[in-house]
Amino acid sequence: MPSLAIIGTGYVGLVTGACFAEVGHTVLCVDNDPRKVEMLTAGGIPIYEPGLEDLVKRNVAAGRLRFSTSTAQAVQEADVIFICVPTPPQPDGSVDLSFIEGVAREIAANLTSYRIIVDKSTVPVKTGEKVAETIRRYARTKVDFDVVSNPEFLREGFAVDDLMHPDRVVVGVSGPRPAALMREIYEPFKAPIIVTDTNSAELIKHAANSFLALKISYINAIANICEASGANVLEVANGMGMDERIGRRFLNAGIGFGGSCFPKDLSAFIKISETLGHDFRLLKEVQKINADQMDRFVKKITDTLWVLKDKRIGVLGLAFKQNTDDVRLSPAIELCNRLLKEGAKIRVYDPKAMEKAKPILPPGPTVEYVDNMQDVPVGCDAVAIATEWPEFGKLDWASARQQMIAPILFDGRNLLDRLEMESLGYLYKGVGR
Ligand code: UGA
Repeated sequence: MPSLAIIGTGYVGLVTGACFAEVGHTVLCVDNDPRKVEMLTAGGIPIYEPGLEDLVKRNVAAGRLRFSTSTAQAVQEADVIFICVPTPPQPDGSVDLSFIEGVAREIAANLTSYRIIVDKSTVPVKTGEKVAETIRRYARTKVDFDVVSNPEFLREGFAVDDLMHPDRVVVGVSGPRPAALMREIYEPFKAPIIVTDTNSAELIKHAANSFLALKISYINAIANICEASGANVLEVANGMGMDERIGRRFLNAGIGFGGSCFPKDLSAFIKISETLGHDFRLLKEVQKINADQMDRFVKKITDTLWVLKDKRIGVLGLAFKQNTDDVRLSPAIELCNRLLKEGAKIRVYDPKAMEKAKPILPPGPTVEYVDNMQDVPVGCDAVAIATEWPEFGKLDWASARQQMIAPILFDGRNLLDRLEMESLGYLYKGVGR
C-alpha cells in the first residue's frame, strides 16, 4: 500500500490522517506549529471533534500515525502527499492561496522521485494547474509527479463519521496512474469513487457547498413568507423534504449559516465566477438573505422587548452549529454582539465553545459566562437560542420560567415545541412559525 503524508493538521488534515490510519495506511501528519505537533505526539487533541481523540490515540499506539514538523520528511517518506492547509478569505472575497503555494514550493524543493500531490483544501477551480506549474518551476531536478484534486466534504462535528463513511469520494486527475493509486488508497472505505478531471473536481466542491447554502437561504426566505402568512415553516419543510428530489436535510430555518466554510466558499465562488466572466447573481442573493436573517431576528427581539438597554438576555449557544467548539463566523456570536450594541447585558452558555469564544467575546460587566445551561435564564428578561445543540431542548423550561424576570423565548433554531412552551406560560418566538 502507498504510504501517505498530510501537510496541515487542522480540522481536515488531522481527521483525514487519523481515518486513513484507521483503515490501515501508514500516515505522517505534518504541521509547521511545533506546539501542535508536540501536543499530538503526546496524545493531546487541539480541537473538539466527536470520536477523534480515541481514533488518534489508537493509531498512534499502533504505529500507523506519526507527527512531524518537516515537509521534507513527508516528501521523502510518502508516495502520496495530501495538502490540507488553510485557504483563508481576503477582504475582496477571494481566497488567500499563499499557504498552498508555500507548500507546493516546499514539496518542489524536496522532490527527488515520482510523487502524487493531492489537494484536499477547498480551492478555486484551476488551482491544481497552478500547483503543478509551481512544482515544475521550483523543482531542483526534472522529476515526474502528478497533481490530484480530492475535495473533502466532511462536516465539523460529524467529521470522523463523514470521513469513514463518505457519500462519495471525488478524485480529479490528469491521467490513469494517479487515478489507480487514489482508488487503492480509498478502496478500504467502500464508497463510490468519482474520477474526473482536476478542474471539475475543484468545481464540485464549490458548487456543492454553494448549493447547500442556497438551500438554507431558500428555506429562510420561505420562513419569512410563513411568518407573514401564518403558515409553519416546519410543516412546509417536512412536506417539501419528503420529495426525494428535494430531501429534508438543510431545510432548517433559523438565524442563518456561518462557520469557516459556507460564507467563505460563497464569496470565493462568486469571485472566481466573476474572474471567469460570470456574474453569479443567484449566490449574491443567497448571501443577502443570510445577512437579512440575522437582522430580522434582532428586530424580532427589539420589537418585543422594546428598549434593550440594560435588559438581561440569556443566550444559549456560541458555536456556529451543534457538536463543535468552532466559533468562526458564528451567527451566535454575531447575535451576542448585536445585542450588546443595543445596550443589553448577556448571560451566555455553550456546551463546548466557551473557551474558544472568550477571546472574541470577552467576559466583563456586560458579558457573563455561565457554567450550567440551567442557570442561563436566571434573572433574564428573555432567552435566545442561537445554536442548534439538542440538549437545549432538555433544559427544565418549567423551572426556568420561575427564575426569569419575564418568560420570553426567542428560538433562533426552532429547537423547542411552540405549544409546549406556550403551555408553560412563555411568550414564544421562533423563526417562520
Ligand atoms: C460544510 C459542508 O456541509 C461540508 O460538506 C463541507 O465539507 C464543509 O462545509 C467544508 O467546506 O469544509 P460545516 O461548515 O462543518 O460543513 O457545517 P454545516 O453542517 O454544513 O453547517 C453550516 C452552517 O449552516 C451552520 O451554521 C448551521 O447551523 C447552518 N445550517 C445548516 C442551517 O442554518 N440550517 C440547516 O438546515 C443546516
